[in-house]
Amino acid sequence: MLIEMMNVSFTYMPNTSLEQLALQSINLGIDEGEFIGLIGPTGSGKSTLVQLLSTLLIPTEGKIIFEGQEIGKDIDPRIIRKEVGLVFQFPESQLFAETVADDVAFGPRNLGLSEEEVDLRVRDSLGSVGLAYERYADRSPFSLSGGEKRLVAIAGILAMKPHVLILDEPITGLDYWGRTRVLRCIDELNRNGMTVIIVAHDMDEIAEYVDRVAVLSEGQIVLDGRPKDVFSQIDYLKDIGLDVPKTVELLMKLRDRGFNVTVESLGMQPAISAILAAVKEK
Ligand SMILES: Nc1ncnc2c1ncn2[C@@H]1O[C@H](COP(=O)(O)OP(=O)(O)OP(=O)(O)O)[C@@H](O)[C@H]1O
Ligand SMILES: [Mg+2]
Repeated sequence: MLIEMMNVSFTYMPNTSLEQLALQSINLGIDEGEFIGLIGPTGSGKSTLVQLLSTLLIPTEGKIIFEGQEIGKDIDPRIIRKEVGLVFQFPESQLFAETVADDVAFGPRNLGLSEEEVDLRVRDSLGSVGLAYERYADRSPFSLSGGEKRLVAIAGILAMKPHVLILDEPITGLDYWGRTRVLRCIDELNRNGMTVIIVAHDMDEIAEYVDRVAVLSEGQIVLDGRPKDVFSQIDYLKDIGLDVPKTVELLMKLRDRGFNVTVESLGMQPAISAILAAVKEK
């Protein structure tokens, strides 16, 4: 197991009148190479959970184990911060440098690496997010499209060479092509072996990419499993205030009306194929 959260609770401003319990008794194990989607309604604790994983917050109760070592006891949180890269929500608001290359170079420069190594990392990480160095390096980050800005922000984290990549709502607010571009890039990173955790509001988009979904509700993990198993709990998900993927909802409705469709097909294309096959059969 790569990371294990054991009975983790987190309270903001404990022992004050503003005390707010954000997470309660979280048990979550993350294996090397997994691609996990973390979903839940507003205020359910998603951002708090990913900040705990990246050690920006420290549990009020319980412990977090990274590769067998307890964070804060056996291993310094600062070491974990280098291993776990967190891309904040709306990361483009943190772009600041005059050029894309300088922005991506910021983190590695702070690590005190040589300019040669910094340049290598900038080229590599821009390449990983599909932005050609020659075309983008000298542009102003502010001249880019929304999707490109997100990709630059992701490249900035990748340039730190993290072991685990966590993204807090990386596709929120992007149009279809922006979302597809960012998701395909993340998917590719995962295929190349990176462990990825993606926080999302809209399940439609991540359903066909992730291999596992954990659902938060009021600070607790209420479901955790394969996407098709989680999304088949349609009524429960709606009860806690989440939308199920529209494809799943449509397939379920068809099945209820006697069409022979399996609700395994999460993406748009598989859903279309399943519907066409079922209609032909009738
Ligand atoms: N800095 C803070 N101080 C006090 N309470 C906070 C703070 N940040 C979050 N909270 C509270 O903790 C709970 C969980 O918040 P969190 O931001 O983790 O939820 P979330 O699932 O990321 O929500 P969203 O989908 O809106 O981003 C909420 O009740 C929130 O009001
Ligand atoms: Mg959040």
